[in-house]
Amino acid sequence: MGKFSGFYKLSPEERLRLVRDERSLTGDEVKALVDSGALEIDKADKTIENVIGAVHIPLGIATNFVINGKEMLVPMAVEEPSVVAAACRAAKQALPEGFKAEAEDSVMIGQVQVTKVKDAATAMKNIDANKKEILNKASEFMKHVEQYGCGVNDFEAKELHTDRGAMILLNFQINVGNAQGANMVNTTLEGVAPIIEKLTEGTVKLRIVSNLADKRKAKATAVWKKDAVSKEVIEGVLDAYEFAKADIHRCATHNKGIMNGIDAVAMATGNDWRSVEAGAHSFAAIGKYQPLTHYYKNENGDLVGRIELPLAVATVGPAISSSPTASVALKIMDVKSSQELAMAMACVGLANNFAALSALGTVGIQKGHMKLHARNIASYAGAESPEEIEKVADTLTEKKDFSVEYAKKVLERLRKG
Ligand code: MEV
Repeated sequence: MGKFSGFYKLSPEERLRLVRDERSLTGDEVKALVDSGALEIDKADKTIENVIGAVHIPLGIATNFVINGKEMLVPMAVEEPSVVAAACRAAKQALPEGFKAEAEDSVMIGQVQVTKVKDAATAMKNIDANKKEILNKASEFMKHVEQYGCGVNDFEAKELHTDRGAMILLNFQINVGNAQGANMVNTTLEGVAPIIEKLTEGTVKLRIVSNLADKRKAKATAVWKKDAVSKEVIEGVLDAYEFAKADIHRCATHNKGIMNGIDAVAMATGNDWRSVEAGAHSFAAIGKYQPLTHYYKNENGDLVGRIELPLAVATVGPAISSSPTASVALKIMDVKSSQELAMAMACVGLANNFAALSALGTVGIQKGHMKLHARNIASYAGAESPEEIEKVADTLTEKKDFSVEYAKKVLERLRKG
């Protein structure tokens, strides 16, 4: 941990050297991180359609994360200032214990919709009587990945009463190992569909993974001690939490702050952040839309924070291998499984939420934002070294003048001594 204290004060080159040495990154891996043309046009063209270029998002490293006793460097790709700094600060305030986290097996839900069911009761009976056959058929499409612990666990069938008549839904539970799993699940569903159609005498329509991956949840907790963060912060976070529980407009923003951190790690590691978003918000909406984090004060007056949400994320797969930086990000994290990745993401989500609520519940969010904004302006005005940027930014913040012209004047004065 000591090695990374004051990480934010270093230049990007110094930071990269530190991370390179810590994680034994190769020359090519370092090049992939710093080379702004890293995603070659040919590779991009094979990833999506109609390619004309690639966009770049800054990649930062969140420090101070100790998760289940292990120190972790967390890569975050995000365009919004403050997100990485907020995660680092909240993680630091949770030290020395850090975060405790756990994650469920990588079980995805795959859905098969049967329409035009004439006799739903008989169809349900046939499904039940042939459950083994259905599971065996589905398993045939998972044979090639059984060696990675993947397989079809089970399915549940139910009747749906819709405006277009009775339908039957089969929700398969499929373990997808370290993959995100959508392709694996969809292939299996398409493979098993004909036998379902025969047994139900209906018409199979949708065969698709569900992004509400509520069998694949990750949880994390942390304690922010009153001596480390102050009573005012604890009371502020608790008031903010109650506000989110009581009001959906606030709750959406509360959860957005959580996803700031989670999406940034998803982006950095080449994961499908849209599916992560869909899973998180639909999970939050089960029953009534609620915060994904929870807070209470323990018997010592310290603040306990907890998060739980579905996280269908991968450490292997085509999106990761086709991204020049995703595999390096995973190497920097030193995660070996999708569960470990999900646990880290849950911790970052909790950290970002705590950081947002502790600022909002006390001094407000703009103070920190404006400091970062001032740093950007300072650097845009020509400040180069971290000290120069810091000094110019301090003056802009103090004088509340964030114009580039003023920043240039301050820099000129500073350089003249
Ligand atoms: C901004 O990206 C996120 C926050 O609005 C989250 C929150 O309000 O809790 C600061």
